[in-house]
Amino acid sequence: MYKPIEIADGVFSVGCRDWDIRDFHGYSTYEGTTYNAFLVLGEKNVLIDTVKEHFGDELLANISRIIDPKLIDIVISNHTEMDHSGAIPKLMHKIGEDKPIYCSKMGAKNLEAHFNRKFNFQVVGTGDTLKIGNRTFSFLDTKMLHWPDSMFTYLVEDAILFSSDAFGQHYAGDMFFDDEIGDEIMPHARKYYANILNHFSPRVQALLKDVAKLNLKIDMICPDHGILWRENPSKIIDAYDKWSRQEPTRKVVVLFDSMWKSTAKMAQAITSGVESEDVNVRLMNTRKWHRSDIMTEVLDAGAIAVGSPTLNNNIFPVIADVMTYIKGLRPQNMLAAAFGSYGWSGEAVKILNKDFEEMKLTIIDPGVKIQYVPDEADLERCFELGIKLAKTLKEKLS
Ligand code: FEO
Repeated sequence: MYKPIEIADGVFSVGCRDWDIRDFHGYSTYEGTTYNAFLVLGEKNVLIDTVKEHFGDELLANISRIIDPKLIDIVISNHTEMDHSGAIPKLMHKIGEDKPIYCSKMGAKNLEAHFNRKFNFQVVGTGDTLKIGNRTFSFLDTKMLHWPDSMFTYLVEDAILFSSDAFGQHYAGDMFFDDEIGDEIMPHARKYYANILNHFSPRVQALLKDVAKLNLKIDMICPDHGILWRENPSKIIDAYDKWSRQEPTRKVVVLFDSMWKSTAKMAQAITSGVESEDVNVRLMNTRKWHRSDIMTEVLDAGAIAVGSPTLNNNIFPVIADVMTYIKGLRPQNMLAAAFGSYGWSGEAVKILNKDFEEMKLTIIDPGVKIQYVPDEADLERCFELGIKLAKTLKEKLS
């Protein structure tokens, strides 16, 4: 439990920290996360979002430190994924099952499906507002950021944007604001974007344009995960603009797995080839790096080289895991090349090339296959592949 924080006059952060979570559906959360929820006091008391189911009691305890939870009049559900809606049944049981829940059309459908019952849903969408005393809650559909139901709630007079998953980070600590933690938070925000939102980058671009058109004054952004942006909200907006453009940079990511160190040697030689052209490179052994950390490096890469030995006429299981994960997050505008050692059948390079095609990456070379153990000439071919990747990338960026 943490002491609720008054983030603006009559607006409290009442959510929970999950110190222990280390895997968030496949994403490594080394520093836990938070499920942020916000209580806005006024003529009617409003709770924006809830928390994971098993943090329900903690949420109610946090609210109780400010008001009796029964005094909550209205719930706003910006997003129905269970990390933000799981505690809704417990909350509604406590505050009164007939109290209204403001949510998107899809939000109402999802909440009914999640909990197998209808609440008093008040469906809202872009342009709708809820006026309570001297406060106005304005709603904005943000479909697919992160689910079809997602929406933002903007508290007009306070200039606070409650942004649900967007602009979040998986970070649980003793700091709650950007000015307290400083730049240390940006790698968490970057990893979050790469692993949660990258595949929706075109929608992020469209949303940023829509928000710019609205010309909203934004003094604070309150996401549902991590720290709140109050000192410089435009910093995270600018970062989202940059990441969602999916523009390649002068960086190559070399991924590999290896059975008897042959593919590892090939990966090393490719890496040296890239470096010889003065292009940045990240060599990542997929047994040592978590898939979500690999994806974070892929976010701004201009090229990717993937190496796998052939095992049972297929690619290695760990490579299949990483490729499936990366493919789902749809990185764009990348060059690609495959490599790998094999014993007799050697399908891995072909399978990786098929993956690249499905991902709509630009394959710059048929790939390098080496039988058993690479000799000096084989490693020279790998070195040349690294040079080719780097040179093609430089030409593309020039
Ligand atoms: Fe934090 Fe899409 O839930």
